[in-house]
Amino acid sequence: MPQYILGIESSCDDTSAAVLNQTVMLSNVIASQKVHQEFGGVVPELASRAHQQNIIPVIDLALKNANVRKDELSAIAFTRGPGLLGSLLVGTSFAKSFSIGLGIPLVEVNHLQAHILSHFILRPGIEKQIPEFPFLCLTVSGGHTQIVLVKDFFQMEIIGNTIDDAAGEAFDKAAKILGLPYPGGPVVDKLAKEGNPDAFRFSKPNIPGLDFSFSGLKTSFLYFLRDHLKKDPLFMETHMNDLCASIQRTIVEILIDKLEKASRETGITQIAIAGGVSANSGLRTAMEKKQAEGKWNVFIPEFQFTTDNAAMIAVAGFFKFKAGEFADQSMTPYSRGGM
Ligand code: KG4
Ligand code: ZN
Repeated sequence: MPQYILGIESSCDDTSAAVLNQTVMLSNVIASQKVHQEFGGVVPELASRAHQQNIIPVIDLALKNANVRKDELSAIAFTRGPGLLGSLLVGTSFAKSFSIGLGIPLVEVNHLQAHILSHFILRPGIEKQIPEFPFLCLTVSGGHTQIVLVKDFFQMEIIGNTIDDAAGEAFDKAAKILGLPYPGGPVVDKLAKEGNPDAFRFSKPNIPGLDFSFSGLKTSFLYFLRDHLKKDPLFMETHMNDLCASIQRTIVEILIDKLEKASRETGITQIAIAGGVSANSGLRTAMEKKQAEGKWNVFIPEFQFTTDNAAMIAVAGFFKFKAGEFADQSMTPYSRGGM
C-alpha cells in the first residue's frame, strides 16, 4: 500500500515541497528566492515574505507533479529547525493547519539530519547504493561544517565542528573579496574549472581534533590580494580563475584532511557528504578519488539534493512516521541546534 509523505522546507531562502511514496521521490519543487542577490546575503524579513507568497503554489505543484491528491497523503513532514525563525514559521504554520484540515499526522524534522538522510532518497526505476550504519557524513553548507557519526536514522553524534565560519561561508566570503556575486560558492566552482589549483598557496589552519576553522583563511586571502594589488592593480582580473581554483583547492583539502582523520580514528570507511557545498566539483572529485583508490566507500548526493530541498525533509519524515514519532500542534520552530 502506498504511503505518501508531503515534505515542506522553508528554513532559509528556498521554499520547497516534495511528495515521496515511502522513500521513493515522486516530486521535488524548489522555488529559490532571487530577491536577496542585490543585498549580497539572505535578508530574513524578505525571506519570510517570499515564503508566504511561494508556499501554496509550490505545494500545489509538488502534488500535481507527483500525481497525488491531498486526501491521499499519509503524513506531513516539515522543517522545525535550525534556520531563520521567520522563515521556519511559514512552513511550520502551514504544515500544522494542513494536517488539521486533512486529519493526518504531522512530523517534525531537523534540517541537518535531513541533509544527511537525503542519501536514502530513491527514485523510480533508478538503482542506487544507500549507506549502511554506521557511516560518517561531512555536512557542509552556508551555515554548518560538521563531521557527523551516523549510528542510525536519528542517532547522530557531531564529532567535528567549525569553531568559526562554515565552509560555504569561506567560499562566499572569498567570492565577495573577488567581487563575485552572491552566493559565491557556485561561481568560484565554475571559474575554478578554468584555473590552476597550484597557482597560489594559502596556509591551512592548525586546529586540534576534528574541528575546523575558516576565518583565518579568509583573512590571509584578503591580505594576499591586498599585497599583490599594491604591486599590480590588475592582479585580480588577470588571475581570477587561478585564484578561484587555488582557494577552492585549499578549502577542499581542509575538509578532506579532517575526514581522513575522522576515518582513521573511528575505523569507519563509509563516508558521505551533504549540504550545499557538497555540490562543489573539487570536493566531489576528491571524494571520487578516494573511492577509486579503494580507501573509502563514498556517497555523493545528486545535485538536486545538495542544496536545500523538501525531498530530504520528506524522507526523514517518513522514517519518523514509520516509527510513530509524531509532532503535536504545540510544537514551535527553533533557530539553532537540535541535532
Ligand atoms: O545547504 P545550503 O543550500 O543552505 C544552507 O543550509 O546553508 O548551502 C548553501 C551554501 C552557500 O554558501 C553556497 O555558496 C554553497 O552552499 N554552495 C557551493 C556550491 N553550491 C552551493 N559552494 C561551493 N561550490 C558549489 N558548487
Ligand atoms: Zn541546508
